[in-house]
Amino acid sequence: MSKDKYSRKFCVAPMMGYTTPHARKLYRILSQKTFLFTEMIAASTMLHSKTKDLIIENDLQNPIALQVGGSDIDDLALCSKIAKSYNYDEINLNVGCPSKAVQKGSFGACLMQDKKLVRACLETMQNASDIEVTMKCRIGLGNDLNYDYFSTFIDEIVQSGINIIYVHARNAILNGISPKGNRSIPRLNYEFVKKIKKEHPHVQFILNGGIDSLDKAYALSKEHDGVMLGRLIQNNPFCLGKVDKLFFSFKGEKNLNKKIILDYFNYIKPKIGNDSIFRLLSPLLQIFFGIPDSKKLKTEIHQQIKDQEIDNLESLFLQFINLQKKSILS
Ligand SMILES: Cc1cc2nc3c(=O)[nH]c(=O)nc-3n(C[C@H](O)[C@H](O)[C@H](O)COP(=O)(O)O)c2cc1C
Repeated sequence: MSKDKYSRKFCVAPMMGYTTPHARKLYRILSQKTFLFTEMIAASTMLHSKTKDLIIENDLQNPIALQVGGSDIDDLALCSKIAKSYNYDEINLNVGCPSKAVQKGSFGACLMQDKKLVRACLETMQNASDIEVTMKCRIGLGNDLNYDYFSTFIDEIVQSGINIIYVHARNAILNGISPKGNRSIPRLNYEFVKKIKKEHPHVQFILNGGIDSLDKAYALSKEHDGVMLGRLIQNNPFCLGKVDKLFFSFKGEKNLNKKIILDYFNYIKPKIGNDSIFRLLSPLLQIFFGIPDSKKLKTEIHQQIKDQEIDNLESLFLQFINLQKKSILS
């Protein structure tokens, strides 16, 4: 049985360069219930980097998982302990990333070729600490879809005792295409996820890949244990304001309003000087997603970022909210 109490009906996918501590803070302001993920952090970085907190800091962003990349059993055991000590609810092993750098480090999707090693990693991570251990994987490797390959892989993995598996429902192609291509070229197959759930009804399988609207996500959440969305949230984090009502029957939705901006600025202001102002603000810049005629304001914001004028920046974002309100009312 799973140790934890959180629903994973709606999760934001781990995204390197995007699901930073600051983006996660914004996501949490917008939704209380969404299950969050960090970016992937390599186990060696987690163990040895002095700046690891720039990735793994957890400012009460629970429910949240820390995603790790690695295949060294001893390192991963230590990572489990660190995740627990940073108050994460879960540590997730990345078995889905196809990048060349990750393959060189012997982790990510190439680990699907060594299911016994993945099982051993997951067992050791569970034994090391009292934290939920999970995995994120693909449905296979290479050009051809092969359900038996996926099913044999999962059969081995569930013997580790883990109870939650996130599935990016397309193969990974390890040679010849980029990580970006690997998110669109291999074709999606949600049926594999439905089928594997029937074989392992006690395991939660969270569906990921190609879910590009909240309506689709909601419909799919009825057919699966939960859904995980990446690029929709990367492009338009503000849609998270609808998630608590839609998925968790919470009262009210959070439309874009001044309080969201003020809360976020209250969070970043003390951090200026410790982190770049661009990194601190970049989650908020998605506010212009799909808004026509915002070029002038965007240019002004970029200038103020260069000038490090945080109070002016706050005013510009508040001004934007006012303009939006007026255009809705007019
Ligand atoms: C910019 C970017 C960075 C990503 N970084 C990671 C990562 O660190 N770990 C991981 O497991 N997947 C990573 N992914 C893959 C996503 O987690 C997700 O599986 C993929 O985008 C498919 O979901 P989507 O169609 O909802 O975007 C990344 C995706 C994007 C777009």
